[in-house]
Amino acid sequence: MSEPVQLLSHAIARDALCALRDTHSRPAQFREALGRLTTLLAAQATSGLRTVPRKVETPLCDCIGEALQGRIGVVPILRAGLSMVDPFLSLLPDAEVWHLGFYRDEETLQPVSYYQKLPQGKPVEEAFVLDPMLATGGSAAAALRDLQNWGVPRLHFLGILGAPEGLQRLQEEFPTVTIHLCALDERLNEQGYIVPGLGDAGDRAFNATAE
Ligand code: PRP
Ligand code: URA
Repeated sequence: MSEPVQLLSHAIARDALCALRDTHSRPAQFREALGRLTTLLAAQATSGLRTVPRKVETPLCDCIGEALQGRIGVVPILRAGLSMVDPFLSLLPDAEVWHLGFYRDEETLQPVSYYQKLPQGKPVEEAFVLDPMLATGGSAAAALRDLQNWGVPRLHFLGILGAPEGLQRLQEEFPTVTIHLCALDERLNEQGYIVPGLGDAGDRAFNATAE
């Protein structure tokens, strides 16, 4: 049995999604909306992080609080996932950031790895993969496989938009991975783009559209 997808249910998320999908949003507006969505998604995805009791001295007395436990990794998939890092770190400033670079071959839609510098051994205890788009699922699956090979025991995928094809693939190949999305769209088109979607997330976030 795979983990059910966790869909974000929040009025601010619905508002930010309109700005993100809107083809007339400028790159700065696009990044701002992506930031708001990532913060909400990160709050949801990290709500079950492990904690340990910690004694705290308030101005009035001692009390027992809870502190986060263990090493946590944030893993953006280049390029588009980079836009999600700062909002995520605003909630978890001490997380480790490990980058993975993949681009999709335009013909085959297969992910091509171009950056992977995970060390040998000493994996983080919990990792959150960040990529706004889950289309065929190829890039997310390749990233999760790299992290499994590193030895990370608890894995999460955080995306903004997903297609049914990519979601099904991740659930089948990675039944223990928790998948968090802001919205599950209708389908992929012939070019492997999510419909209705938002276009090319990396190009829009970084104002790098060719034409
Ligand atoms: C986009 C997106 C994902 C991938 C999703 O990246 O950011 O990484 O496509 O597609 P998939 O689920 O079919 O693998 P892209 O390859 O366009 O690279 P970029 O972020 O550098 O633009
Ligand atoms: N990558 C994107 O940036 N957008 C899509 O719709 C699919 C993959």
